[in-house]
Amino acid sequence: MTVNVVLKITILVGTMTGTAQLCAQEMELALGDDDTLVETALMDHLDSSAFAREGVFLVCTSTYGQGDVPDNARALYEDLQAKRPDLSRVRYGVFGLGDRTYAETFNFGGKRFDELLAGLGAERIGERHTHDASSGVLPEETALEWCQDWVAKVRARLAQPA
Ligand SMILES: Cc1cc2nc3c(=O)[nH]c(=O)nc-3n(C[C@H](O)[C@H](O)[C@H](O)COP(=O)(O)O)c2cc1C
Repeated sequence: MTVNVVLKITILVGTMTGTAQLCAQEMELALGDDDTLVETALMDHLDSSAFAREGVFLVCTSTYGQGDVPDNARALYEDLQAKRPDLSRVRYGVFGLGDRTYAETFNFGGKRFDELLAGLGAERIGERHTHDASSGVLPEETALEWCQDWVAKVRARLAQPA
C-alpha cells in the first residue's frame, strides 16, 4: 500500500510592483493538488516566526534600490538578521526576480535571502532561480517549469534520511 504524504509549501513573496506575486500565484495554481498544499503569503508584516511553519518554503522575491530586498520584505529580512533563529529544520527554494541592467546587483534580493537563510542553518533545495526582466522571457512562464522541477527535487530530498 502506498501512503501519500501531503507536502506543505509556503510561498513567501517579496515584491514592489506585483511581478513576484503573479509568479507565486501561478506556481500555487500549478503545484496545488491532493498531495501538495500550497499557501502564498506576502512578506508584509511577517517576522522570523514565519519559518516555524510546517513544510518547505519558497522565497519568491524581486530586487530593488541598489540590490536591496523589496520594501515589503524588509521587516522579515531584518528580523531574521536580528534574532538569528536556528533554522536547521528549514528547507527552502529561491525564485528570484531582477534585471541584468543592474549588473552589479543582479538578483541580489533572492541572493540576500538565500545567504541569510543558509547562514541560519537552513538547507536550500535546488538552484536559486535568477529571472532577468530584460531577457524578454516572462517570469510567470519560467516559474511554471521551474517550480515543477523544484518540487520534484523537494520530494526526492524529503524521501532521503535527514
Ligand atoms: C527602481 C528599481 C530598482 C531595481 N534594482 C534592481 C537591482 O538592483 N538588481 C536587480 O537585479 N533588479 C533590480 N530591479 C528590477 C526588478 O527587480 C525587476 O523588474 C522585477 O521583475 C520586479 O519585480 P516586482 O514587480 O515583483 O517587484 C529594479 C527595478 C526598479 C524599478
